[in-house]
Amino acid sequence: MVRNNFIIAIDGFSSCGKSTLAKALAKELNFVFVDSGAMYRAVTLYFLRNSIDISNRDAVNKALKEIKIDLIPLSNSIQIMLNSEDVSAEIRQMEVSSQVSEVSTIKEVRTAMVAQQKELGERRDIVMDGRDIGTTVFPDADLKIFMTASPEVRAQRRLEELLAKGEQVVLDEIKENLAHRDHIDSTREESPLRQAEDAIVLDNSNLTPEEQLKFVLNQVKIIRGK
Ligand code: DC
Repeated sequence: MVRNNFIIAIDGFSSCGKSTLAKALAKELNFVFVDSGAMYRAVTLYFLRNSIDISNRDAVNKALKEIKIDLIPLSNSIQIMLNSEDVSAEIRQMEVSSQVSEVSTIKEVRTAMVAQQKELGERRDIVMDGRDIGTTVFPDADLKIFMTASPEVRAQRRLEELLAKGEQVVLDEIKENLAHRDHIDSTREESPLRQAEDAIVLDNSNLTPEEQLKFVLNQVKIIRGK
């Protein structure tokens, strides 16, 4: 099937700045931004609130049928709606962060989210960030970026982000959470985090957001000029 829309897939470890870059790209190119991690976070929040036992497949399947996630684009961000409730702030809290990787390993959860993500990219120009976008969700994406940054830089970024939101966290706790998530995300059976063969690696440890944006915009230009 020939696609007329342009798809940019951005994958990488947690707190690499994927969403910041994806948001800036979407704004610059007038694309729709989809934060796929936010979808897994919304599912995790629902499971936590409803005390869903994630080892019970029937309970998980039943819960998935009751979950409706909507992503509403705002001028500078997206609003994450869980069954019509705005959960954008709540899904970023540590309680969700510490459970989301486990929830994301569940096959049924991934199948439901991937189907919804594919649908979002059917007709629109989109930039989607996550872990398996270039490998599983859109293996035929027009441009695939794989982002990395040093663990120290990532932990420091996350710390600043959470402190700015008023959360009481310490660097060591964040480092541990990131290492734990990296491990689960890249070793799980279902579509683990890995670099697609045709992805361009972007190590942004020493790059400003503007430099990263410029780099990717240039790649888009090259592809469009082909
Ligand atoms: O990007 P993030 O940190 O908000 O993502 C939260 C979690 O969701 C992450 O630990 C792994 C999972 N995730 C995933 O499994 N697949 C995706 N495409 C996006 C996120």
